[in-house]
Amino acid sequence: MSIFDLSGTVALVTGATGGIGSATVKALADAGAKVIASDIAAEAMVAGAAQYKRLDVTDEGQWTDLIAGIAAEHGRLDILVNNAGISVTNSIAETSLAEWRKCQAVNVEGLFLGTKIAADLLRQSGGARKGGSSVVNLSSVGGLNGSAYMAAYCASKGAVRLFTKSAAVEYAMLGWPIRVNSVHPGGIDTGMMDTIYARYVEAGLFPDDKTARATVSAGHAMGRMGEPDEIASGIVYLCTPAASFMTGSELVIDGGMTAQ
Ligand SMILES: NC(=O)c1ccc[n+]([C@@H]2O[C@H](COP(=O)([O-])OP(=O)(O)OC[C@H]3O[C@@H](n4cnc5c(N)ncnc54)[C@H](O)[C@@H]3O)[C@@H](O)[C@H]2O)c1
Repeated sequence: MSIFDLSGTVALVTGATGGIGSATVKALADAGAKVIASDIAAEAMVAGAAQYKRLDVTDEGQWTDLIAGIAAEHGRLDILVNNAGISVTNSIAETSLAEWRKCQAVNVEGLFLGTKIAADLLRQSGGARKGGSSVVNLSSVGGLNGSAYMAAYCASKGAVRLFTKSAAVEYAMLGWPIRVNSVHPGGIDTGMMDTIYARYVEAGLFPDDKTARATVSAGHAMGRMGEPDEIASGIVYLCTPAASFMTGSELVIDGGMTAQ
């Protein structure tokens, strides 16, 4: 069997109707996983998903019910991709406390809840497979470097980076077969970036969306934004036995943005 094969595994992806989430569902399914797609919407069709389940990642009760349901129906969970996220594009002066808290609640608390509540099932499922179970947390280049008008978002993604490393070290210390890694995309062509460009223009940083997009694209050494499937392939890699010695790592997929 290929070290990139995920046959026999069960995966849960949050924020799965979005750009990177839907690409990840498809890529995990292509690698052989049975994928449960989840998002905040009550119903959705996600290509490649075996099932769709509603999950607001900020709701502890919903997490508990969903993981209990997966245990009852599938008997296992091998992969958790904490992908759901929101952006805030505003100056610090104009960021409200409510906006700040919402960003931390979705991007950080949601991922803490998922990692915590799924841990027992991931642990039970990971023992027999090379590389064990895998949690992949979506951080960002904004979790490595600061960015003007993105303080709330960058603070949340920095927290994701160190939560990931702490979980990785803790589970390894406890001898649990769960690897935990973060992924750090550059600018990826999804609805989130469209929202960010629109906000840059509203805030007067750029005259129009086209200029905002061209400037962000030029910030990558490769001179372009990334596509969602270029992130999904990195996420899949981290979940396979090929990454069996990777935990607490930060996988940067950014077209050379942070290399310069
Ligand atoms: N697009 C980029 O350039 C980029 C760069 C770096 C990191 N990321 C990160 O990648 C992840 C996916 O982003 P994307 O670009 O695909 O964005 P997207 O807006 O296309 O998708 C985000 C998804 O999260 C869902 N979501 C929002 N709040 C939720 C909640 N409370 N509970 C459950 N789901 C919720 C949305 O419904 C949406 O489907 C995010 O964590 C984002 O911060 C994106």
